Amino acid sequence: MAGHIPPQFIDDLLTRVDIVDIVDARVPLKKAGKNLHACCPFHNEKTPSFTVSPDKQFYHCFGCGAHGTAVSFLMEYDQMSFPESIQELADSVGMTVPTTQSFSASPAKKNLYDLMDRVSQYYIQQLQTHPQRAIFLDYLKQRGLSAQVVEKFGIGMAPDGWDNVLKVFGTDEYNRKQLNEAGLLSSNDKGRTYDRFRNRLMFPIRDRRGRVIGFGGRVLDDSTPKYLNSPETPIFHKGSELYGLFQARKAHRKLDKVIIVEGYMDVIALADHGVTNAVATLGTATTPDHLRQLMRSSPEIIFCFDGDRAGREAAWRAAENALPMLGGNHQLKFMFLADGEDPDSVVQQYGQQGFNDLVADAKNYSDFFFDTLESQLDTSSMDGRARLVETAKPYLKHIPAGVYKDMLEQQLAERAQTSLSVLAKHLDKSPTTKPTTTKKYKPSNNTISPVRMAVTILLQHPELHTAVGVFDKIATLELPGIGILVKMLETLQQFPHLNTAALLERARDTEHEAHLQKLALQSLSLSSDELKHELAGMVQQLQQQAIELRHAYLVQKGLRNLTVEERQEIQLLNI
Ligand code: CTP
Ligand code: MN
Repeated sequence: MAGHIPPQFIDDLLTRVDIVDIVDARVPLKKAGKNLHACCPFHNEKTPSFTVSPDKQFYHCFGCGAHGTAVSFLMEYDQMSFPESIQELADSVGMTVPTTQSFSASPAKKNLYDLMDRVSQYYIQQLQTHPQRAIFLDYLKQRGLSAQVVEKFGIGMAPDGWDNVLKVFGTDEYNRKQLNEAGLLSSNDKGRTYDRFRNRLMFPIRDRRGRVIGFGGRVLDDSTPKYLNSPETPIFHKGSELYGLFQARKAHRKLDKVIIVEGYMDVIALADHGVTNAVATLGTATTPDHLRQLMRSSPEIIFCFDGDRAGREAAWRAAENALPMLGGNHQLKFMFLADGEDPDSVVQQYGQQGFNDLVADAKNYSDFFFDTLESQLDTSSMDGRARLVETAKPYLKHIPAGVYKDMLEQQLAERAQTSLSVLAKHLDKSPTTKPTTTKKYKPSNNTISPVRMAVTILLQHPELHTAVGVFDKIATLELPGIGILVKMLETLQQFPHLNTAALLERARDTEHEAHLQKLALQSLSLSSDELKHELAGMVQQLQQQAIELRHAYLVQKGLRNLTVEERQEIQLLNI
């Protein structure tokens, strides 16, 4: 999508816009040293950990990890699309977004959103007018759902028949292509095309901004599959969406906790009984992507699972996925329902209060973690307790260094009835997240590679690129990240005035985006002069390394076997 707006326009825009103005207009900022700060708008907190750097034109929350440029801020805070937020920023400084015909919010996707919206309205209307609607309405009634909640979640019906949607929406070749792209059609071996959803209760799936991106369709009887879902489409990615998140965010200005349940019907039944903070994955495990989204929406996340074995296994998978995100200002908890119950049945039977009582009893992450490990061991024996340490070890490694990790280790020591110092000998001390770059660059330093360091410095201080000498050979080195480094140096040679934000925006939607965002956050505790020196030294050393390798290669080939060009080259390599 980013490709449709000329990158140079975004570069210019980001040197004109000041992120401080953009954020301050929405979240009033206070000065804090050379940065500004505020309580984070993306999670609940009492002391400010959301900082904005005027130098880097970048924001970062130390609590929830939210971060990005002015463009990302508008996308997150105002829930805008990428082109919308570019437009908004351009308006704010009086610039005109170049309107090449391919620009304007990826028309293909925009049409898909439109189509999904119209089809969703159609299913709703069928539920109100179709001659066979009574069976569907009876089913909803029998499931105990109120008319209000049916409306709130936009529940509809796909009537029986092969071509209801096809007839209404597939009026010409183009429209049929659109229907297919939206995942609303199926076809058989003979190439016959028909409606994917037939004779099903329809649950529209919305993204965070409320746009319909897919559907789940449920049968009314015991036939299978019970649910049929939209396939992956350009606008629907199952693994990163959460059913009900839009409604939950709408119901609460700030969500102080959010409950992850397993099914569509659970979310809806809970909402119908006043528990308006539940979301569900779309029949998949909870992915790190899901967790990151939830952490931005709420400080407390409660996993709610069935009490049976499958539920416990799913809970453990979720716990594993959450390891790298523990600590910070977030609380993760686990609640288990009695065997055979689900949130839907519990809330129907015991009501809002009954369900909330169970929520209040949810287990802390640490209790769930250790209880689960201990349940497979005999901790009354010394051998069992030693096993506990061994079993916990690989998991602890994935937890970011910090107070939370320290406390888990302490708890492990207590549970294993040993001391922290004994334990420490057995736990691999992973490198702390404290800055590791206070010393002068040494080629032998293997904690952070020169390439990574050079990229980090360039990204955070693009103006220092002028200190870099010749780098024409380094692309030949087979080192991780070398491609990014070369690309960045070339870009800065061509556009010397880019700032951090502009470099990051150039990486948006590329495979490097996440990596560069991480590097933008690394703290570099050297002075600008020292960084300049480091950067120049590292690139020079890489260049030298490349020259030596090439030289060695040519020498090893033997003077006689060299072409004329290679002979000239070996002389020029002057080693
Ligand atoms: N699911 C699915 N495809 C299926 C079965 C389940 O995609 N064939 C997903 C759906 O997202 C569903 C969730 O897994 O909501 C949980 O499944 P289940 O507990 O069986 O469904 P409920 O939502 O509880 O629906 P109901 O109460 O009507 O059985
Ligand atoms: Mn159910």
